Amino acid sequence: MCGIVGYIGEEQAAPILIEGLRRLEYRGYDSAGIAVKGDEISVIKEKGRIDNLQKSVKEENPCGTVGIGHTRWATHGIPDKSNAHPHKSQNGIVTLVHNGIIENYLEIKDELIKKGYEFKSETDTEVIAQLFDFFFDGDAVDTMIEVSQRLEGSYAVAMLVKGEGDKVFAMKKDSPLIVGKGKNENYLASDIPALLPYTNECYIVNDGEFIEIGKDSITVYDKSREKKNAEIKKVNLSVDDAEKGGYDCFMEKEIYEQPKAVKDTVSPLIKNGKIQLPFKFPEGFVKNLQRIYIVACGSAYHVGMTAKYIIEDMARIPVTVDIASEFRYRNPIIEKGDLCIFISQSGETADTLASLREAKKRGAFTLSIVNVMFSTIARESDGVIYTNAGAEIAVATTKAFSAQLGVSYVLASYLSYEKGCVSESELKEFTDEILSLPEKIQSALNTDEKTAQLAKSVSQKEHMFFIGRGIDYPLCLEGSLKLKEISYIHCEGYGAGELKHGTISLVEEGTIVAAVATDDALYGKMLSNIKEVHARGAYVIAVVKEGAKGIEQAADEVIYIPDASRFLTPSLTVVPLQLLAYHTTVLRGCDVDKPRNLAKSVTVE
Ligand code: G6P
Repeated sequence: MCGIVGYIGEEQAAPILIEGLRRLEYRGYDSAGIAVKGDEISVIKEKGRIDNLQKSVKEENPCGTVGIGHTRWATHGIPDKSNAHPHKSQNGIVTLVHNGIIENYLEIKDELIKKGYEFKSETDTEVIAQLFDFFFDGDAVDTMIEVSQRLEGSYAVAMLVKGEGDKVFAMKKDSPLIVGKGKNENYLASDIPALLPYTNECYIVNDGEFIEIGKDSITVYDKSREKKNAEIKKVNLSVDDAEKGGYDCFMEKEIYEQPKAVKDTVSPLIKNGKIQLPFKFPEGFVKNLQRIYIVACGSAYHVGMTAKYIIEDMARIPVTVDIASEFRYRNPIIEKGDLCIFISQSGETADTLASLREAKKRGAFTLSIVNVMFSTIARESDGVIYTNAGAEIAVATTKAFSAQLGVSYVLASYLSYEKGCVSESELKEFTDEILSLPEKIQSALNTDEKTAQLAKSVSQKEHMFFIGRGIDYPLCLEGSLKLKEISYIHCEGYGAGELKHGTISLVEEGTIVAAVATDDALYGKMLSNIKEVHARGAYVIAVVKEGAKGIEQAADEVIYIPDASRFLTPSLTVVPLQLLAYHTTVLRGCDVDKPRNLAKSVTVE
């Protein structure tokens, strides 16, 4: 959500800024702009895609080796040129871009209007620029510190300051910001993929830090203006991670990367049938563990729901799963000795992060399952398990989802063994099966052709339902979310047993119902549900394991996934559901990787 880039060096800044913005496109945006420092500061912004901005940049051809850029995801004010960033202050003292939300902006805006400042946009961001202008005493770092003391809310800000032509300044609180270190050049970005073509050395900016970068220097100040040591970290991602590599879009590529993503995630955690977690629980913690919370948003929440079925069954520990935006405000009962697990691809989701902080405050042990290295959620948790899925660019998550499922299986195995619920040989059997998953996911990708064929009917519809029971239920929610978020077909996922309590009234001749029935114990009940919707005219697409009996008579179409034990099937079920969403979206001519209104990294609540 909003992307920031900055450059200072010896090259022309504009093309580097545009390239950086393109690499941040996946975060979601609806306008974009850059500012380049030449003799003057040129600001160029456009509504819509970066192509529009690039066209204007070509025409205006701003010269200069210092600049900042921004992709804006509208919150305060419609997506248009006047609200797009960068914003220049009234006296031209500062030109800046911002990611986050300033909660007390109206109050500050009123004060500044009384002091004679005129505002040109509806954004909360413009108050940062005007406030900086008002406080400016000739020293940019002092002024940033002063401005920060007035701001409530979240921000990552990059700025160009008048009279400081060979510097870029930045500050941050609760929104991500990274400094990239190059040779005779340095960069700023909201996250690592934007920097990959240039450098893999970076400094992760902490809340409450104030940054001054020159082409050969990175200086970090704290709020007392004391200099801090900037520890440069090496990132093990390559440019390929952020390129399409021959696929038509990132989502397709990422669906196909799932065997590798799961392998890279689970194999470091399992050694000779034993689980090796990359962190330590406090002594005796698991033995006494009575309650687990899992908190996440979007697809990660569906992983949490799936994990609940597995952990409760295997380790016999009660698990409560919450949407982060509810958890943080519902005054949950958390005590010392509780385990709170936070699942997040980006590691920056604002509600998940706030929930983590709340749980920590209340004394829980906080464990995060995160894909982006050094992200805020990862850094602030007591323990972290990284999903090694690589950079995920498509807004709709696929490979990170599968990698998160992989961690859930490993964690459930660990907890059940530590709780004495499974023997050493049972643990070995289960972990061996986890390790065989990548191969099975590879076979599940053979459903590509079948789903492409089914997508022809699905793409004609405006409604669709996904029904399932037990561990298939959260997968139905995920299948439904995938399809609706990218194809804009209205979808709902339902517990099949809940159909008769309302949803079945929506089923009529030709309604498409995907019925997921992979759980042997519930298979008979699913067959009955399939017959019920079929009798009312539904066109049923069943997703079942190879060898399922009687399904061809009951359903109109059948997708077979490889056989696996009940708890590991979700990793295989999800594959055709992702592929169906992908193919349907292509047929409807929608933007697969960048669906309207959505952002990959939701850094505001
Ligand atoms: C957005 C993304 C989803 C993701 C959710 C949570 O809505 O589009 O794909 O599941 O955020 O994001 P996180 O980074 O916390 O997993």
